[in-house]
Amino acid sequence: MEKVWWKEAVVYQIYPRSFMDSNGDGIGDLKGIMLKLDYLKNLGVDVIWLSPIYQSPNDDNGYDISDYKKIMNEFGTMEDFDLLLQEIHSRGMKLVMDLVVNHSSDEHNWFIESCKSKDNRYRDYYYWRPSNNGREPNNWTSVFSGSAWQYDEKTDEYYLHIFSKKQPDLNWENDELRKEIYEMMTWWLEKGVDGFRLDVINFISKVDDLPSVPGGKKYDWGGEFFMNGPRVHEYLREMNEKVLAKYDVMTVGECPGAEIEDAIRYGNKEGTALNMIFTFEHMDVDSGTGGKWDIIPFKLTSFKKIMTKWQKGLEGKSWNSLYLNNHDQPRAVSRFGDDCKYRIESAKMLAVCLHMMQGTPYIYQGEEIGMTNIELELEDYNDLEIHNMYREKVIEGGENHDKVMNLIYKKGRDNARTPMQWDESMNSGFTNDVPWIKVNPNYKEINVKQSLADPNSIYYFYQKLIKLRKKYEVIIYGNYKLILENDEQIYAYTRELKGDNLLVITNFSRENALFHMPYELQTVKKELLISNYDKVEKEQEQFILLRPYEARVYLSEDSNNCI
Ligand code: NOJ
Repeated sequence: MEKVWWKEAVVYQIYPRSFMDSNGDGIGDLKGIMLKLDYLKNLGVDVIWLSPIYQSPNDDNGYDISDYKKIMNEFGTMEDFDLLLQEIHSRGMKLVMDLVVNHSSDEHNWFIESCKSKDNRYRDYYYWRPSNNGREPNNWTSVFSGSAWQYDEKTDEYYLHIFSKKQPDLNWENDELRKEIYEMMTWWLEKGVDGFRLDVINFISKVDDLPSVPGGKKYDWGGEFFMNGPRVHEYLREMNEKVLAKYDVMTVGECPGAEIEDAIRYGNKEGTALNMIFTFEHMDVDSGTGGKWDIIPFKLTSFKKIMTKWQKGLEGKSWNSLYLNNHDQPRAVSRFGDDCKYRIESAKMLAVCLHMMQGTPYIYQGEEIGMTNIELELEDYNDLEIHNMYREKVIEGGENHDKVMNLIYKKGRDNARTPMQWDESMNSGFTNDVPWIKVNPNYKEINVKQSLADPNSIYYFYQKLIKLRKKYEVIIYGNYKLILENDEQIYAYTRELKGDNLLVITNFSRENALFHMPYELQTVKKELLISNYDKVEKEQEQFILLRPYEARVYLSEDSNNCI
């Protein structure tokens, strides 16, 4: 397997709005990030990925960009950015930008121009279509509820927006548009940024004629007509040729709905496209056929099946990105662990389970101190997805308020967007003004200051995991093998590289669990590399009694006794 820096790296994602406010306006900013770089360096991360910091009207918190070469006023200036980049580099870390080019903001100059007339030079930068017998051009729905089309009176046509109506889709069929995007990417790379996370990049090519989803539904998810669409690989190859291949950068494409074969094509060994992608199958493990809000109970065997499918499917062919949460997902410890009694144990267990797999691990801000989900009043939520869903289900659809609020508590994106909890002072040390979104009331117990003062904290556990990654190649490159496939409590797997063997055992339950040592591992001499309990009982030859959420990693270097 080819060895490259981005496979060996650990990435830390910052959601700038909620990270650190330096100027007391209640909103995180670039200077705030600068204040915390030593904290991140000390954690051991190699790469910082910033969610969008470009000029934006903030309909979707920066994922609606109105100027790709300007910094959002609330976040600071281009001078602040240049300094931030310099400070990151001087600490030996790298910076990856979020690149949102499936759509722009409706306040981007391209879109403003394109609205002016049907023959405007920028008209074709977007998808404009006439009505279909007085209705939307097709029946696709927006990810954020309702039709994916918005009518515009001035030219009596509709434009396509797969996300909010303030996020019109860019038309990648247009050569001029693609050129402008490549020029903009080059501009950032020339500044010295170290790569891009490409937002919903597998949506950029739509099927010709934009057909309706058959079946006659008024609105239907049209994903089959724009996810992994007909020309997407052609565009990405072009992007690579014209831009990316000229720099030693890291790229990760966000690709909802991508399957193994797609992932291999996006992130192939020859590097003709992206380095890796974010897949979503494991994030849907607790969703039913109705999608994200159709919540079903988490089942460990399903989770293992999905993770294993991706671990094995990409082995030697592409590369996994490893994540359990981000700014769009609930907090991992609340979702897959226990955010009450066993918060610390389960947060550490999840970290072990993920960081020992093959791929590049991503830590989302606050995960390293075990931040949890939140329950707010409806009006205190900021996320447009939450409000649109509530309107559709409760106000228009007549569903029960409490029931829908429960969905929001479990899956709402604002769970991940509450301010970073730095200390026990007012507003968790995030700001000295009113924060743009409420701080989680548990900040007095869960915060960075407390974590740094406690040698057994989740923070130091992550630090240790990262150090292990730097020490043992098998953690990065080793082959993965699932054991105990049908166990509903324990997720255990092995990794193997050139005679070095890891045995990873994690208990995903609140109860004790008995791990039966597979026969071929029983006589193997093992060294315990890490565990999330203070006192660890020596393993028996044939079994280990695991405590709630216990995690252990063993290393055996004896090549005659291969695991
Ligand atoms: C994915 C981003 O992660 C999410 O936050 C955003 O709402 C959509 N793409 C649209 O840009």
